[in-house]
Amino acid sequence: MVDTLNNSALKPNSATVEAKGKRHSKIIDITYRSNVDSDYTENIESLDKSFKYKEHSDYYWSQPEHSLLYGTPVYEAASPSQKIALNHLHWFTKYNYTAETETETITFNQITASVFQEIGGYDTICQELELETEQEYSHVHAFRKMGLMTAMSLIGRKPLQNLQKSHSYKSNLGRNSWVTAQYYALRFLAKHMLKSKQAYYSPYLNQLEAAEKFVITTPTKGILGRGIADSWQGFFTFNWGAGSPFLACQYYTARMMGNILLKGMEYPLVKYYRQLAKQGEFIPAPTAVSYYHHLDEAYHTTMSKVLSRDVYKDFHQPTAYEKFVANIAIYMVQQASFSGMSGIFPHRYLKDDRFLMLFIYEIFQSSLFGMSSKEALHWLEQCFCREHEGFHRAKQNHQHLLNSFRSFFDDLDYLWPINRQMKLMAKGGNIDRTITNNIKTFRQFSRLAVD
Ligand SMILES: [Fe+2]
Ligand SMILES: [Fe+2]
Repeated sequence: MVDTLNNSALKPNSATVEAKGKRHSKIIDITYRSNVDSDYTENIESLDKSFKYKEHSDYYWSQPEHSLLYGTPVYEAASPSQKIALNHLHWFTKYNYTAETETETITFNQITASVFQEIGGYDTICQELELETEQEYSHVHAFRKMGLMTAMSLIGRKPLQNLQKSHSYKSNLGRNSWVTAQYYALRFLAKHMLKSKQAYYSPYLNQLEAAEKFVITTPTKGILGRGIADSWQGFFTFNWGAGSPFLACQYYTARMMGNILLKGMEYPLVKYYRQLAKQGEFIPAPTAVSYYHHLDEAYHTTMSKVLSRDVYKDFHQPTAYEKFVANIAIYMVQQASFSGMSGIFPHRYLKDDRFLMLFIYEIFQSSLFGMSSKEALHWLEQCFCREHEGFHRAKQNHQHLLNSFRSFFDDLDYLWPINRQMKLMAKGGNIDRTITNNIKTFRQFSRLAVD
């Protein structure tokens, strides 16, 4: 039963909305109108439709330093055409991950938009989120189609199958009884703690729950799915849609982490696009897709910022429970997606694991490099376990991203210090520790590869 007393306390205070709403609703209105008037998504769709890898295969798609394995001994020894291929494979791998993250966004946008619909008075937010969701469908399609065409042409099916396996996600919810029991326990706790907010329960979440027989699953391994236990993923999904305006807004703090990550990776491509355009040179379609995507995402980033930093202030102060959920979500994302760095990917903030080693091992044995298994193992060890320029580039990117997170989180006074200062991430930006970890992983990997 809805607690009407508490529920009325949840309603945005009209005087507050008027005073504060003017400021942020203006930004939201301008963002929505500009987004509707723009044609960036249409441009991406048409580039996606006409893409043929061969027509773009002889050109760099971004600056050489944004290439897979850049700065490693293999990169130094690679031929000019192999270097271009590594540049294209970097585009493929980064946008493969972006597609995973944006698939998650499609679900969560709809969950939170329907909470705002229930609250009422936030029509433009709902319309903008609906538009963003449509745009993400087009983005994901372009990234997957263009990326897979590229990777298939360069390295063939085998490395891709293993990459897909490491990314494919089957939730244990509903199948593994212990995980499902954990989820139901967390859901029960959340429902109890948020019982006064039930009037705004997301109808979209309701539909998902009905279809999944009351078990929520997040379908991918993007920024919110990777490395976070199924039961916790379900718990966050439930909390973001269970009717708390604060938590619906706080989903956008997590989304903002994805926006900032993407911007760091994508902005160099935008600069590259502008440089080619200025010089009147041929612009490869993937470079143009990155450019238009960056422009589309600028609207999404503004919305993440406004929702997570301003809109929640229309409502009453968050409870201790709501602050706990917001913090635990950021903590888990930080730990799962940003607590390390890579020697072979300039923009990866996870530890190098055996899945990545297998992917690179198979690339070395594909027609692109044509190595024997012995040669592939030798070069793998050189790339992952010996200090080289790639680690130093990765560290620079890591520091840059860390500073961007810290300056965004600085204003969010309800965050725990470990989140506001991104302490887990800061600890992960260490070259010696990364190499020590890689040596351990490589030993295990090479034993398995030889068997
Ligand atoms: Fe997108
Ligand atoms: Fe987006």
